[in-house]
Amino acid sequence: MRRHLPRLGHPLFDRQHARLADDTRALIAALRRGAAGRCLLSRLIRDSRRHFASEERLMRQLAERYPEAEGHRALHRGLLEDMLRLRATLAGGGCLHHRHGQLLLEALAHHADAADRNLVAAWRRTQLPAPRRATHGLAERHRRPRPGL
Ligand SMILES: [Fe+2]
Ligand SMILES: [Fe+2]
Repeated sequence: MRRHLPRLGHPLFDRQHARLADDTRALIAALRRGAAGRCLLSRLIRDSRRHFASEERLMRQLAERYPEAEGHRALHRGLLEDMLRLRATLAGGGCLHHRHGQLLLEALAHHADAADRNLVAAWRRTQLPAPRRATHGLAERHRRPRPGL
């Protein structure tokens, strides 16, 4: 049973992966206690969106030096759809088992081990500097509170 995502040697992605593992472990612990975990699942979704936006920004910078970008983005969409489906279950009054959280952690760790590792390898072959912090994707910009609301 996994508890962490692998370290890949990319400072920002490693930090974000550690946070996703923290989020998921907190969700699993809450579900084990019998809590619904809705807020924790929302936090995992928010942090995942932010992290995927960071990786996809690097993919755009790498362009033809990373030809797997389309498939990698599709994997991100699939992971988010899984999380959103679980949140919809909770919103509809359903319950989650801690095993659902464990499966999310396994899927994130597997993704980091394969697709993300290849992305970091492509980045290493370039002279691109490592980003120090996340830049917000479009989805995140839309989620920020707007003045007057
Ligand atoms: Fe990742
Ligand atoms: Fe990824």
